[in-house]
Amino acid sequence: MKAENAKKIYIETYGCQMNFSDSEIVASVLAEHGYLPTKEVQAADIILVNTCSIRAHAEERVKKRLRQFRSLKKKNPGLTIGLLGCMADRIKYALGDEESLLDLVAGPDAYRDLPRLLGQVESGQRGVNTLLSLEETYADITPVRLGSNGVSAFISIMRGCENFCSYCVVPYTRGKERSRDAGSILKEAQQLFTQGFREVTLLGQNVNSYRWKEGDTHEVSFDQLLGRIAAIDPKLRIRFATSHPKDLSDELLKTMATYPNICRAIHLPVQSGSNLVLRRMNRKYTRETYMERVESIRKFLPGCAISTDIISGFCDETEENHLETLSLMEWARFDYAFMFKYSERPMTPAAKRLVDNVPEEVKERRLREVIDLQQKLSLVSNRQDQGREFEVLIEGTSKRSNNQFMGRNSQNKVVVFPSIDALPGDYVTVKILSSTSATLLGEAVS
Ligand code: 5AD
Ligand code: SF4
Repeated sequence: MKAENAKKIYIETYGCQMNFSDSEIVASVLAEHGYLPTKEVQAADIILVNTCSIRAHAEERVKKRLRQFRSLKKKNPGLTIGLLGCMADRIKYALGDEESLLDLVAGPDAYRDLPRLLGQVESGQRGVNTLLSLEETYADITPVRLGSNGVSAFISIMRGCENFCSYCVVPYTRGKERSRDAGSILKEAQQLFTQGFREVTLLGQNVNSYRWKEGDTHEVSFDQLLGRIAAIDPKLRIRFATSHPKDLSDELLKTMATYPNICRAIHLPVQSGSNLVLRRMNRKYTRETYMERVESIRKFLPGCAISTDIISGFCDETEENHLETLSLMEWARFDYAFMFKYSERPMTPAAKRLVDNVPEEVKERRLREVIDLQQKLSLVSNRQDQGREFEVLIEGTSKRSNNQFMGRNSQNKVVVFPSIDALPGDYVTVKILSSTSATLLGEAVS
């Protein structure tokens, strides 16, 4: 197909990093079949919305967006609108009359089938595939890096989840856990480095349970995989997400300590500081064992940032339980946190067996207290960095000013400093002079 005749696809992505990574796989599958990505929704022949179901709010945003696309479709009846991702299997329950707008629906394991589904749409049928797979990891597909800064990229290393946290919809929307071929991951990381990328983030719902059978007897564990990628080049930074506290091993921490290019930042979602709540959430660790993991991180990796996720107002959460979350946050001194109100999700064990009984205004007040405390903790954490020097990987110019560079330190904190003679992808030592709760401000010293 000639480029000028190629159909243009506009992909809009909601949800987690994994979803953004999936959109790059979608773009790659479609590029192989002559479709071209566009950043302009108005110019698109095909609009694909890659959706998230994690909270009701995420689904509401998608519904609202689909309603906006209705007017585009009125103007251009040939426009194809497709829904991808976690909501695919739930459209009957989650959508109202927005459903009639959809020409195509594809779940997270059905992206190789997109060209066939689009063919069906062209012949006047609706293209639907929401089957989940036991094997699909898209291992052989080289993602098209959408919206990339040319410095950092995601690599998906596993799919699905079998932890069955009682509040979480992911095991139902993304299916069984499966790890991707270690060789293909290594190859992708090596290629990215050769192309000039300097940071890769390894993605999985629970990266610590990564396992790949190599030959008849050997199994590659997550810490071994990390070690192999870190050995590609000391100038390639490696990050990973997400770690489950029940599986974060000392072996992993020791591997991190061996390689300075494995970033000093661990995302370790705690969800709650109360043992009763943790049990109802089916998290499989206690407040005490979580604290023991944090101590281990501090022992093996001094200066490592720890970030977390917290849910306020889970079923039966009492005021005392909530105070336990606040006290754990103070103890752990989290550098950063993602904080949410509990949102009941259909199909989950909590929806089936527990009652969403914390009143909305109590959920909101508790969440506010959690956010206010984290704001203080982030501020303290950033203040402590004043006067220190960090190696910063430059990602580009700062949003506020073209005369300033923006990058990150190993701890994943955003660092802004006056531009010097350097390029995105370069490392520079920056001395921190001041800070806000979100950013470190400094000047280059090398
Ligand atoms: N309600 C609120 N937050 C949730 N999360 C997952 N499921 C829910 C839910 N039903 C949060 C958890 C998880 C993060 C990705 O989203 O904190 O770690
Ligand atoms: Fe949302 Fe979870 Fe699906 Fe990611 S895996 S898109 S967070 S529901």
